[in-house]
Amino acid sequence: MTQVEDKGLRTAEPPTADVADAADAAAAWWRSAAIYQVYTRSFADSDGDGVGDLPGVRAKLPYLAALGIQAIWFNPWYPSPMADAGYDIADYRDIEPVFGTLADADALIAEAHALGIKVIIDIVPNHCSDRHAWFQAALAAEPGSPERARFWFRPGRGEDGSLPPNDWQSIFGGPAWTRVRAADGTPGEWYLHLFAPEQPDFNWTSPAVRAEFEDVLRFWFDRGADGIRIDSAALLTKDPELPDLASDPRPHPYEDRDDVHEIYRAWRRVAESYGGDRALIGELWIPDPERFTHYFHDDELHSAFNFPYLCSAWDAAELRSVIDATIRIHAPVDAPPTWVLSNHDVDRHVTRYGRADTSFGMDRREHGRPVDVELGTRRARAAAMLTFALPGAVYVYQGDELGLWEVEGIPSELRQDPIWQRTGGTDPGRDGCRVPLPWSGQAAPFGFSPAGAPARPWLPQPAGWSGLTVETQTGDPRSMLELYRAALRIRREETGLADGPMRWMPSAEAVLDFVRGDSLRCVVNLSAAAVGLPQHREIVLQSADLVEGMLPPDAAVWLR
Ligand code: NOJ
Repeated sequence: MTQVEDKGLRTAEPPTADVADAADAAAAWWRSAAIYQVYTRSFADSDGDGVGDLPGVRAKLPYLAALGIQAIWFNPWYPSPMADAGYDIADYRDIEPVFGTLADADALIAEAHALGIKVIIDIVPNHCSDRHAWFQAALAAEPGSPERARFWFRPGRGEDGSLPPNDWQSIFGGPAWTRVRAADGTPGEWYLHLFAPEQPDFNWTSPAVRAEFEDVLRFWFDRGADGIRIDSAALLTKDPELPDLASDPRPHPYEDRDDVHEIYRAWRRVAESYGGDRALIGELWIPDPERFTHYFHDDELHSAFNFPYLCSAWDAAELRSVIDATIRIHAPVDAPPTWVLSNHDVDRHVTRYGRADTSFGMDRREHGRPVDVELGTRRARAAAMLTFALPGAVYVYQGDELGLWEVEGIPSELRQDPIWQRTGGTDPGRDGCRVPLPWSGQAAPFGFSPAGAPARPWLPQPAGWSGLTVETQTGDPRSMLELYRAALRIRREETGLADGPMRWMPSAEAVLDFVRGDSLRCVVNLSAAAVGLPQHREIVLQSADLVEGMLPPDAAVWLR
């Protein structure tokens, strides 16, 4: 049913507008969806150039529908020089030619909708590409011009302006400022980039910037996007004084400032003007729970990613406390909790859970530590069942369902991530979680590219993935893929597993045991010994074989 028909029905038989709206909000798709993250570059390559594309995704939509997901989040798909894998956008209203065309995106959205799948796109409002028309115009314009006012241009410090305007460092390493030069080589002003130099920060005090992004939202909502994932959502506004961080300025000059909220209130008004089921989802790395939930006050965002859950160690006490805190802080603002195990920025969780230290932090990405992949896989199976039993929305990063591990040791000359480049290799970066998916066959490209494709996949796939292809796992009841398919199907069918209450049951230490709905119970054993199961009528799903009726370590079970 289209949006318009849907609205028409509601007006034909109104209980009252308020009651109808409240019922809609309670049932909104983004409250309980299983959201699959497609990293287009690495999903499926239809034309053999070694890079995934939108026709590739279209061909695999039946696979995603059968997996049992309700929405897809696409990483940025816009024209981009790819200095940061598409997070450097040159044009917010078109599609990167390597990925396809706007017509491909339209067809993809329509086909996803026909399968009942919502589409979430990624908007990057903090920065654009240095090839974006506005930044090119700013470079060509004079200091003090309106063109430069849409970014953060400042004179340098020191006698000849050769020192950056302040001491801010780029999140990717190195200074957060780059000096521009005139055509004749004369050095000029500096511009701010919290990420790579190819990603100049927008100046959100500029009304033009605000108007532009509201228009970009409308552009994609008009094309059928159901949701927006907002990149670096807490970084947009800056203290115009640009104080040195060494002076310990309060509030922070660019993180989570109070003035960012009015931007999202305006975005919410745009979303609401489309009938109320378009979702705004923030990428927020904010440790303070109160400041985090502020983004859901006053009609701002609908939801955000749960990074504390992703970063938690495989440890019952820690997971339990993250779960409790998540539910506690989301309840008063009526936002659905979300649960994320992996994404395109972090080491894959099979690998994380196979290390001695299973916790994760963006600032401590370190490859080369011993990894027990078998153990990590076992835990990843249990983690999936834990995650899918929790109340709220869940994210699946492409390849989670195949049990892919982090690819460590990619040859330096093939690495693409600016983090690796800008830290001089001290941080391995994020290429290892972005390796193209294995679909079929015994050797690379594993069906990622068509047979006989002229180009190799843009990052090399390990030979060891031959046992992890979709083809190999399909129909194997012990495979990760079939576990995901079963768990997502049950999660969809069992109303008790949607957003709603959960109740902890008394359990042994290092065991997570909770009930959802009237009768579904999830038990996860994170201890070193097998544990007995509570009384049950039926085992609905299990991540591992029971041992003499007991749940072995690093395993999960759903009971009725
Ligand atoms: C967060 C994105 O997830 C990441 O991939 C990107 O590099 C930064 N934001 C900068 O846009």
